[in-house]
Amino acid sequence: MTSTETGIASIGLHLPPLAMPVEELASLRGVDPDKYLVGLGCSEISLCPPEFGIVDLASEAARRALSRWDGDLEDLGMIAVGTETAVDMSRPLSAFVAEELGLAGPIRSYEVKHACYGGTLALRQACEWRMSGAARDKAALVVAADIALYEQGDPGEPTQGAGAVAFVVDRPEIATVGIDSHAWSEPAFDFYRPVGESYPRVDGKLSLECYKKAAVECFNALAEGRDPAEVMERFSAICFHVPFPKMVRKAFHLVGEVAGWSAEKIQQLYSEKVEPSMLWNRLSGNSYTASLWIAVAQALQGLKAGEQVAAFSYGSGFGSEILSLEAGPRAREAAWSQDIERDVARRTRVDASGYDLLRGAVRSAAA
Ligand code: HMG
Repeated sequence: MTSTETGIASIGLHLPPLAMPVEELASLRGVDPDKYLVGLGCSEISLCPPEFGIVDLASEAARRALSRWDGDLEDLGMIAVGTETAVDMSRPLSAFVAEELGLAGPIRSYEVKHACYGGTLALRQACEWRMSGAARDKAALVVAADIALYEQGDPGEPTQGAGAVAFVVDRPEIATVGIDSHAWSEPAFDFYRPVGESYPRVDGKLSLECYKKAAVECFNALAEGRDPAEVMERFSAICFHVPFPKMVRKAFHLVGEVAGWSAEKIQQLYSEKVEPSMLWNRLSGNSYTASLWIAVAQALQGLKAGEQVAAFSYGSGFGSEILSLEAGPRAREAAWSQDIERDVARRTRVDASGYDLLRGAVRSAAA
């Protein structure tokens, strides 16, 4: 088994049934809406009604990915779910999803946790498992799913969101995941959620610095002594983990400054290769583990076989990694685009008072 025979064979996405424009939150918090729209670059917050949870979100994305794959459930040898919205400290989210899908038998099933980096780790492990030959040609189902909620009034509130992405890792019909990747980690308490607490504790300023440091280290490693601007030019899209779009802008500009590019070059690369991949993220809000992979799924739409995409993953704590993907023959069809189009068309918009009610309901359900 070689790397060229392993990659993404199908993609499924799911956004929850509710959403709120950030202007509604701004009116509730007495903040100038431009702070959220321009200052953070956010547009909408995806929200879950009380009866809808992480298992529904993850399972539906998985169903959609499986429905576009030409294999059977018996051809799967692994289900790995990256999440930080675990429902149990012992039983993995993969077991809840497997139950929904009727998946049992000779299959490795587990959950991966490393904040927003968990989905990337699950995907890489699935690819490496196949590339090593240990999979004996079985495929893997990989899901990245999260519901991001902050305490009401927290500075992170406008960046909230939710979403799920599922991949079948098998023959690379949609994209090859390159064997070479570059990781960087440093222990930090930038964003964490102690056991038993409902909301994360965030050192906002530290989290921005950690994210930027991770981006500089990973992009430097990717360039490996070559001209970094030329390395960037070979990618059709450069995707980032998107906690909020302005974070990506700040990090990419720093990467360019450290590499010595002119302000014009930075802006050109950002406008052509980075910003266009965040349209779906603006509709989902931060979906933690799913965030980068929503951007990658958007970027892969319609690419010709051989076109390349860079993917920078960041998870608080902190761990990061940059990967390269190469579009396969079926990226062009972009069958997964309809998932986002349909979910967005069908979802209900809530206003400020609806959000207040919803947060009250979520609090009582959690109590
Ligand atoms: P804040 O401190 O309230 O915001 O929250 P601020 O005062 O820094 O303002 C934000 C920006 O809005 C600034 O722009 C202001 O100037 C601008 P900047 O100077 O940074 O370019 N601004 C305005 N612009 C236009 N019109 C106005 C206006 N007013 C202000 N009227 C903070 C910001 C990021 C701290 C908060 O949102 C937060 O805590 N977020 C959560 C943490 C986070 O997302 N960190 C990102 C890196 S860590 C990460 O990505 C991991 C994560 O996804 C979790 C995981 O791994 O699991 C979070």
